[in-house]
Parts: sequence; C-alpha cells; structure tokens
Amino acid sequence: MPGGSPLPCAAVVLTGKLITIEGVDGAGKSTLAAALLEALTQRGVEARLMREPGGVQTSERVRELVKDPALQVGARAEALLYAAARAQLVEEALLPALKAGEWILLDRFVDSSLAYQGAGRGLGIEAVARLNEFATGHLSPHRTLLLMLDADTARRRAGGRGDAPDRLEQEGAGFFARVRQGYLELAEREPERIRMIDASAPPEEVLRQALEQLADLLPQRAPW
Ligand code: TMP
Repeated sequence: MPGGSPLPCAAVVLTGKLITIEGVDGAGKSTLAAALLEALTQRGVEARLMREPGGVQTSERVRELVKDPALQVGARAEALLYAAARAQLVEEALLPALKAGEWILLDRFVDSSLAYQGAGRGLGIEAVARLNEFATGHLSPHRTLLLMLDADTARRRAGGRGDAPDRLEQEGAGFFARVRQGYLELAEREPERIRMIDASAPPEEVLRQALEQLADLLPQRAPW
C-alpha cells in the first residue's frame, strides 16, 4: 500500500474512554489513580489502570532500561525509547480495550514525553509531538488530569518514597522546572482536554477535583 499501513485509529470507532494522569514526579499520580479507580467503580464504570512506560511486557522491559541509573541514554534515544514503549502499549492493549468500550486510566502518556523530553531535555515540544504521532497513530486521550504542585513540595514527596532515585529522578531542579513549564504550556494549548488539578490539596480534595473534571464523561446517575 502506498504510504505504508493505515494509522491504527484513523478508521475505527473507539467507544471506550482514555483518561490520562500527568504531572511531575511526586505530584501524587499513583494515589489519585488508585482512588479514581475505586470512585469510578462505585459509579458503575469498570476501568482498568495502566502505567507508562509499561502496561505490557515489552514496554515494562523498556521501562527497566530507561530508568536504569547505570545506563547512558541520550535525549533522542530517551524520547525514542518512551515512544517505542508507547507504540507497543497502544497496539497491544489500548486500542483493543478502547474498541471494546473499556475505560482506561493511564498513569502518563504522550504529554509526559512532550514535557520531559520536549521541554525538559530541550528537544522541542513539536519534534517530540511528531515522533509520538507516529508511535500512537494520533491516539489522543479523551481527558487528561494534570496534577500541578510547586517544585519544592514535589521534590520532597518524590524523595520521601524511600527507594533509590532512578535515572530521571536524579535530574536537577532546572530540569524539573522546565518539565513543569512544559506542562503549563500544554495545558494552555489544550484547555478542553487538559484539566489542571491542585495537587497540594489533601487526597480526598484531589479526588473530588478529578471527578469534577470528568463529570461530563461519566454516565448520568439515576435521580432516585
Ligand atoms: P513513574 O512511572 O514512576 O512516573 O516513572 C516514569 C519516569 O519516566 C518519570 O520520571 C517520568 C519519566 N517519563 C518521561 O520522561 N517521558 C515519558 O514519556 C514517560 C512516560 C515518563
């Protein structure tokens, strides 16, 4: 076929919902993801929780590689590794689930690469966006919850987890300031999709804000 195989999501109807959770390390994504999963179930929505990089076997292997502090990984290789992990997740898990009408709660997706590799590493948001359009076949989340937190609190929380910092977590304050700025730019560009949440609030309040930002996607509750 001229021009290669068709884009995976160009011609099919995706009846499920892809909700992504984004933010700098230490913003509380995992805590929100777990609480949101439970809250959605209570509202009759069966959702599946996945993370990036990871979610399927090949992508989990890439995760080990890309986080390993013993390895030297340049900015371009880093962007390509995240994109490769993502391409496999999309093809193997996300598209089949979305076609089957499932809800997926995804801890990080393309916006992480735009913020971390595009802004943080300085590769440029546009260049990394093009790479990811190829990787995902233009799959875009129905909604993105962006947890925003001041840099000091995020760093304190990320450092307080107890495990040794991975390759990315070893980066300095300047890197995370650029990542944060990148996220803000993305939210400004796409306010309908990307909804900012104040991650400095207590977990129950963060969950309340998240549900508010998803309200129009949720099935209507019966009035009785
Ligand atoms: P996490 O799952 O613990 O958040 O770890 C993923 C790390 O990888 C985190 O430091 C953010 C980083 N990352 C990128 O730099 N680009 C990406 O595209 C993704 C998905 C993650």
